[in-house]
Amino acid sequence: MDRCLVTRDLPGPALDRLRAAHQVELWAHRAPPPRAELERAVASVAGLLCTLTERVDDELLAAAPGLRAISNYAVGTDNVDVAAATARGIGVGNTPDVLTDSTADLAVALMLGIARRLTEGERLVRAGEWVTWEPDFMLGRDLYGATVGIVGFGRIGRAVARRLEGFDCRVLVAGNGDADGLATALAEADFVSLHCPLTTETRGLIGEPELRAMRPSAYLVNTARGPIVDQGALEVALREGWIAGAALDVTDPEPLPADDPLLGPPNLLVVPHVGSATHRTREAMAELAVSNLLAGLAGERMPHCVNPEIYD
Ligand code: GLV
Ligand code: GLV
Repeated sequence: MDRCLVTRDLPGPALDRLRAAHQVELWAHRAPPPRAELERAVASVAGLLCTLTERVDDELLAAAPGLRAISNYAVGTDNVDVAAATARGIGVGNTPDVLTDSTADLAVALMLGIARRLTEGERLVRAGEWVTWEPDFMLGRDLYGATVGIVGFGRIGRAVARRLEGFDCRVLVAGNGDADGLATALAEADFVSLHCPLTTETRGLIGEPELRAMRPSAYLVNTARGPIVDQGALEVALREGWIAGAALDVTDPEPLPADDPLLGPPNLLVVPHVGSATHRTREAMAELAVSNLLAGLAGERMPHCVNPEIYD
């Protein structure tokens, strides 16, 4: 029996499986554990089940001499210094596949939401400011038949493309590192949707030149990671009309402060990082995260490990 730190309570019964096998210390609060608390808690554990709000860097690993397995409750692992974990022989697990469809659904919801101005219209109705039905009131743009650029063509990008077949969209694809594909997508798409992981290559991938290259009638959708977009440039782009609007599930930082300039322009739809937030998906992620941790602690291959080279 090993000691494990779980940095947040998880939906569904998955943690019972972990408790049956190991001694679990649970940070049972809504807010993430403060850094000092995290450093204290990892000092005595062999397993860490964390979320994307915890920064697992080399310093934290140095504070955790007995750590043998890290299970990240997310598909993205940009919050974990994977190279540092690998150097210490620690496996890092993540939760792919189970959240693909929920995230793809949300990307399409954001496309429809920004192009049909759903939150903008809802605000008017709730404020009692909707005066009457008018022929040219709240006009938006169609997703049906649109050209959609998908940047990052992995599991989630492909799932979005499948959904867009039903909308008779023309899909342009830019895989990771495909500069020509990105240039074409930016120039031609009515919607540019980001589905790449956050890496040193993709940080700031969409900055001023890219936003200026988009059509003034186009929308940017981000369900990947906030820092892939240069948010300062995006704020100017929205305010000055370089693009028609943006719909974001992710920002930098998260949460975005209420007085952030990005929240000024009305042509922004923003939601609080909920790509995987359905009951079914979050429970499936919990099962996978627990399975990863149990395998890692048992010295077995994690079902989903982002640094499998530690097994060589
Ligand atoms: C969520 O953003 C995830 O990476 O799972
Ligand atoms: C709109 O509501 C219509 O009936 O055309």
